[in-house]
Amino acid sequence: MKRKLLMALLFSLLIGLLAACGGSDDADDGEASGDDAATDDGDKEVYTVATDNGYVPFEYIDEDSGDLVGFDIDLITALAEEADIEIEFETLEFDGIVAGIGSGRFDIAIAGMTITEEREESIDFTQPYYEAGLILAVQDGNDEIESIDDVDGKVIATRTGSTSQEYLTENTDAEIEAFPAIIEAYQNVLAGRSDAVLYDLPNVQYYSEKDADGELVTVGEKLTGEDYGIAFTKGSELRDVIDDALTTLKENGTYDDIYEEWFGERPEGT
Ligand code: ARG
Repeated sequence: MKRKLLMALLFSLLIGLLAACGGSDDADDGEASGDDAATDDGDKEVYTVATDNGYVPFEYIDEDSGDLVGFDIDLITALAEEADIEIEFETLEFDGIVAGIGSGRFDIAIAGMTITEEREESIDFTQPYYEAGLILAVQDGNDEIESIDDVDGKVIATRTGSTSQEYLTENTDAEIEAFPAIIEAYQNVLAGRSDAVLYDLPNVQYYSEKDADGELVTVGEKLTGEDYGIAFTKGSELRDVIDDALTTLKENGTYDDIYEEWFGERPEGT
């Protein structure tokens, strides 16, 4: 009797122990294998990438597929792969991206963002990944504005919170009209409501060729050098990880391939 009782006790203790171990193992396995199936790596953090959805050809919604596409999108996707991190995109307006990355709302921001001293006070940037510049554009046939020297007293459209807006404020006496979406600035010029638009050269060029049927023409020289950088909250450890990956992609030709796909030719000096 006593022996049986002891055996039963021991047995149930054993079962209990097994169940406890098995239970916790199961839970872990369950989680890991669930994630494994989806992402191939159970405990990888997913980093948020803030970007725009209306900045051709860097990030915009493809009309046919409805997908977020562009040079920046392909570049950060390749960088995340190289750095072996998971990312997900969040789209919002450009000024919100600049403010949000400064305050740590997102992990990464890529949005054709120019590296400026002012932004560097609250943002850490990678090395430059694209060299842009500002350009003035008018409606085809407007010969009143031939360069930035002709904009004083004229209505010049641009995007809110952009380096173009800052340039106009600091260097001209133009009447600045800043819009939350650059497309409105272009449309205003094409409708004759604004005299010209000042914005980043690659965006103006792309819009003018693909969307404006040559009705919007650039005038004058490219103003300023604008180096785009990928942005991080100050002190972010991810900055170096992505910067190293960028160096690798520039060296191994991946960067050039992506560049060529969106801009047709390889960047100068490569
Ligand atoms: N390069 C300019 C800037 O940094 C304009 C960038 C606009 N980017 C955008 N995704 N809308 O101010």
